[in-house]
Amino acid sequence: MPDIAKLQIGENSYEFPLVKGSENEVAIDIKTLRGVTNGVITIDPGYKNSGSCTSSITFLDGEKGILRYRGYAIEDLAKKADFLEVAYALIFGDLPTKQEIKQFHTDIQSQSIVDEDVKKIMDAFPKNAHPMGVLSSLTSALVAFNPSSVNVDSKEEMYNAIVKIMGKFPVLVAWALRKKQGLPLNYGSKSLGYVENIMKMMFEQPNEEYVANPVIKDALDKLLILHADHEQNCSTSTVRIVGSSHAGLFASLSAGISALWGPLHGGANQAVLEMLEAIREDGGDTKKYMAKAKDKNDPFRLMGFGHRVYKNFDPRATIIKVAADEVLKDLGIEDPILDIARGLEQEALNDPYFVDRKLYPNVDFYSGIIYRAMGIPVEMFTVMFALGRLPGWIAQWKEMRENKEPIGRPRQIYTGENLREFVPLEQR
Ligand code: ACO
Repeated sequence: MPDIAKLQIGENSYEFPLVKGSENEVAIDIKTLRGVTNGVITIDPGYKNSGSCTSSITFLDGEKGILRYRGYAIEDLAKKADFLEVAYALIFGDLPTKQEIKQFHTDIQSQSIVDEDVKKIMDAFPKNAHPMGVLSSLTSALVAFNPSSVNVDSKEEMYNAIVKIMGKFPVLVAWALRKKQGLPLNYGSKSLGYVENIMKMMFEQPNEEYVANPVIKDALDKLLILHADHEQNCSTSTVRIVGSSHAGLFASLSAGISALWGPLHGGANQAVLEMLEAIREDGGDTKKYMAKAKDKNDPFRLMGFGHRVYKNFDPRATIIKVAADEVLKDLGIEDPILDIARGLEQEALNDPYFVDRKLYPNVDFYSGIIYRAMGIPVEMFTVMFALGRLPGWIAQWKEMRENKEPIGRPRQIYTGENLREFVPLEQR
């Protein structure tokens, strides 16, 4: 592989260096393009061919279906690690020692209460408010309750900000659920593991002692791990770009939550379940919905299918499909929705429309089925995604600030009116 790329524009030719990643990915470094060409830029809506940064956090190969966090295969992490270990690895670069994870957990749990006044903000939300809106607002509100800005050159300040949000975010998630269900806004217990504590905060009933079901705990650990990072996706890029203006960590995360909410991104898990329900209520005719998905005049898309980068299979979907089967079996749940999901998957995998476009089930095709089996309402599914993605967003924000990346500010090609004369209102 050469180490320069040549560009010819009319008579002039230019050379640009190539950047190589540790897995041999190649990019053309066009940092000097505009300067040397006197104003020429590149255009790439949706950034399908543009790298926004170099990063040492997550590697994924969409063609081969590979996903690794800090070099560790997602399959190993999902099988052998728990969510907090994975969070630590994402944020700090390596899997923790026993001592490091113990300290991390203690520090997080000591931050796992939020100012009681946050409950007043919660009270002002209507009960039917979407919990993603609530979560995004409350994460932003945390800035008001924790106003000191982080000196990113101080390891200690960075660490404190990280354990603070890792401690408080699950409380907000649990409260968003409990508010919807009319349950008291409780706290967890310092003595519990990170994920068990989240479960207690979410599911504890006021009139009985909470005992975590180990099957659900394992499944939740897996789901959170599988969602923990996915390099420069829409919400992560949002967190990095907001943070690049030196907005604080919590404000950047709040923006990321809003980006995640959309049905083409994290909101897909809610959309999948709603789609499967609609198909069931309509008689379960999967063929009818396959036809709708292929009809270019019909806006319907098969939710949970397709991915911007995975063009072979989504390795997370493979793990989650097995987990969904296990959870439903262990809990003794027979869910007709699962049959519809399996039917759609089988048809899509054999249909030239989906095969030619390399459309495979993504992580969210099966995650909603597990969340449903856990008793989590559909509107909370994307919130659960946010809970899993939190360490990834933190790691990416930290990397961006530590690398001293410049403010994110894309350019454009203007296609509007040329200069025209202003006509006063009375003459228009
Ligand atoms: N159902 C039917 N057709 C589809 C689907 C789908 N789910 N996804 C893509 N296509 C078709 C498009 O119509 C297009 O067809 P064409 O070439 O004939 O015009 C072709 O496949 C390529 O699709 P694009 O939208 O250009 O692909 P892109 O990479 O921009 O979008 C996306 C990826 C947004 C995920 C898309 O596949 C989609 O909308 N999927 C459904 C929503 C979803 O599941 N999102 C979750 C993604 S995973 C995550 O965020 C965690």
